[in-house]
Order: sequence, then structure tokens, then C-alpha cells
Amino acid sequence: MFERSRKGEHALLIQPHAGGPPDEDLLEEFADLARSAGATVAAVLTARIDRPNAAMLIGSGKLEEVKAAADASGADLILVNHPLSPGQERNLERLLERRVVDRTGLILDIFSQRAHSAEGKLQVELAQLKHMATRLVRGWTHLERQRGGSIGLRGPGETQLETDRRLLQKRLEQLQKRLDKVEVQRTQMRRARVRSELPRVALVGYTNAGKSTLFNALTGAEAYAADQLFATLDPTVRRIELSGGGVVLADTVGFVRDLPHELVAAFRSTLSESREADLLLHVVDAADPLRDERIAQVDAVLHEIGAGDIPQLLVFNKIDKVEGAQPRHDRPAEGRMRVWVSARDGQGLDVLRAAIAEALQLRHVSGELRLPPQAARLRARLHALGAVKAESHDEAGWLLTVDLAVADAQRLFVQAHGEALRPLLETVITDLDSQ
Ligand code: GTP
Repeated sequence: MFERSRKGEHALLIQPHAGGPPDEDLLEEFADLARSAGATVAAVLTARIDRPNAAMLIGSGKLEEVKAAADASGADLILVNHPLSPGQERNLERLLERRVVDRTGLILDIFSQRAHSAEGKLQVELAQLKHMATRLVRGWTHLERQRGGSIGLRGPGETQLETDRRLLQKRLEQLQKRLDKVEVQRTQMRRARVRSELPRVALVGYTNAGKSTLFNALTGAEAYAADQLFATLDPTVRRIELSGGGVVLADTVGFVRDLPHELVAAFRSTLSESREADLLLHVVDAADPLRDERIAQVDAVLHEIGAGDIPQLLVFNKIDKVEGAQPRHDRPAEGRMRVWVSARDGQGLDVLRAAIAEALQLRHVSGELRLPPQAARLRARLHALGAVKAESHDEAGWLLTVDLAVADAQRLFVQAHGEALRPLLETVITDLDSQ
């Protein structure tokens, strides 16, 4: 059953690997996760697994080794960087006489410590209960099988499990209902923001890249920034002013390699801040030796949540930690624009602001529009934006050749006769009707 790990625990880490040497990077990240949950790393073991043991994941020889290492190092918690079935978790706990938590359990634990808003807390509790529910249900069927499924022979343990399951189910339904409500409110807020006609920019990036620090530096707000993974679990949204006008900036949850799927689902609404953005600021820790790999991992998650096609500005942060690095803006002939900054020292923030404005303007749509005679006001607005490149007129109305920023086109789309812009916007926005 899932329990929260408490601060000050001593953890023994097990890093399973298939053939070949163990991946040091995976292990280091797992140790970071453990520390983020408040544990200290007492010992680390790798375990080569060619064929996973159905009952325990690891073989019995390795089990002895783990037990000896746990005794010697005083570890009171075993963390396994691999998904464990409920049965494996139970067996390992019994044989090792310590709590055993797998990767999903550990991330859930961190999430539960970090969630700030009511919605974040609800989402975490829901994900934890779901994780727990599979364990209770399977525990029960397992007992039933042991007794040959004889109805009427249920012991007190099973009755308790049944009660637990019923209570759990009730709590799950309650939570889901509350969350649905919060999501409706959030959608309404998001609509209001769309109507507020500002382009949306979302900070995304690997956990600990410095998103919250950058968010604070750009907005002057005090979003939470800590040297721990996943310090941000709830999106924080603020308006900032750039030379070309205002934009809405959202901070989002950090990504991590192999984020368990049940968590991606639980944090859908947090992640949707990125999905609905006009521009993503993909923040990278410039001093991280694995930064290229991290960029690829974040791209993979963005793709998974449907944000893979949104234009990106790569923001290489923490240049104060990189020998000789200066704030600058690169515009490579191919690929994404890059900006080099230090959110902590405030170096390069002006360069970044200018790059955001430039990137948002870069996102243009062009083509022909047919406007009915009643749409004179819309036509006037298009002229005022300098978007009309050519026009002709007949009894059916106007035929315009236009070129304008997507953000402007979106703004006009929700106004009278804005539907005329649909063919243009459909090429860049797939879910126009939900706006
Ligand atoms: P998650 O919420 O886990 O996704 O993290 P995040 O990307 O929001 O990172 P956060 O802003 O919390 O920063 C992580 C750590 O990096 C903190 O200790 C920051 O002080 C530090 N940090 C952020 N920006 C800079 C920087 O420009 N230079 C240096 N040296 N440290 C920085």
C-alpha cells in the first residue's frame, strides 16, 4: 500500500539494468528524486535483470545482497527505479522488513509534498488513491484465491479490505467530482484569458532548469523556486509587458524522463497550459552536461501532450555557471532561436524579452479571405493592422490577400464576422472551436 515517505529517511536505492553497464545518469537522477522526497541516500546498488523475477523483480541472490547492504548502511527505506507490481512490492517488503517504494510511488510522494493549490492537491490525492486502489483490489483477489474463493469463509482481514475498497471508491468519486468542478472553473478562466486577447507564452523544461526563477525574474512575482525537483506543481499565470504589447506568461510543472503515465494524466490541466500556448520558452540548464539529452526528453513529453508543433524559443539559463558565456540571441538558419540568460543574476532578460516579442510576431498566417459586405468593421481592423496586401471588391463583398500575426488573427476570430478567418487559422490551430 502506498505511504508517504517521511523526511529524514535513509534510503537504499536499487537501479535495475538489462545487459551492459548500468546507466550512471539514470542513477543520479533517481538519487535526485529520492533527495527531493526528503530522503538521504544511504546506499546504492545496481541489479542486473535479464529476466525479471515475477515474485520480486530481483533474484534471491540479489535480495540477500540488498538486505545485507540495508542492514550495514542503516537504510530504513528501499527505493526501486523500476515499476513494481503490487505483489512484488509486498513480497519485497516482507522479505526485506522495510518499506519498498517504486519510481511511481516516489514521484507521487514528491508531488504530494509539492502541490500548493487546491487543484494540485486534489490531483495528487486522486493519483495516489488510484495507485493504491490497484494494490487493494489485487491484494483481495489474491487472498480469495488462497481460500479457494469459498464464499462465506471471509476472515476479518478480507472484510476490512472490502470496507477499505468501498471507502476508497467513495473518496475517489468525491475527489473526481471536485476536480471536475475546478477544471470547469479553470477552463472558464482560460476562456476569459483568450478573450483578453493576449498571446500566451508558457515556460516548459526539465525539472530544476530554472523555470520558476525565470518566471519570477520576468514578472517580478514570487513564485516558488527551490533547489528540489518539481518545486512547481501548479501553473502560475501572470501578465507581462513587452515592447510590442502584453503577453500572458505561465509557469508549468517540470518534466522528467519517463514521467509515469498516470501522472501525465493527473496533471493534464497543468500541462494544458503548455498545449494552449502560442509560444513555448523551453528552459534548459546550460551548465548541465546532459542538456542535449534533456532537451530531447522534454520534446518527447511535449509531443506526447500534443504541444509538439508549438513554436519554441530555447532559453539556455544559468550562464553564470558556464565559463565565458555571455547573454546573446542566436538565430540559426535552421531550428529554434536560442537565447542565453541567467535568471538568477538577471543577465540577458532584456534580450529574452525582445526575442519573445520577435518570436510571437514571427508566427504569421497568410492567404486569401472573403468578407461579406457586412464585415466592414473587420476589414477596417485588418487594414489598421497593416495586414491587407491586396484587395478587390464585387457584389459578394471583398476578396482580401492578408498576412498577419496568428495572435491578431485569433483576436479577430472571436469578434463579429471573425469566422471568415477560419480557413487561415485552421492551418495553425487544430482545436479552434474550443476557444
Ligand atoms: P521545477 O519546479 O522542478 O520544474 O524547477 P524549475 O525549473 O522551476 O527550477 P527553479 O526555478 O526552482 O530553479 C532550480 C534551482 O536552480 C534553484 O536552486 C535556483 O536558484 C537555481 N537557478 C535558477 N536559475 C539560475 C541561474 O540563472 N543561475 C544559477 N546559478 N542558478 C539558477
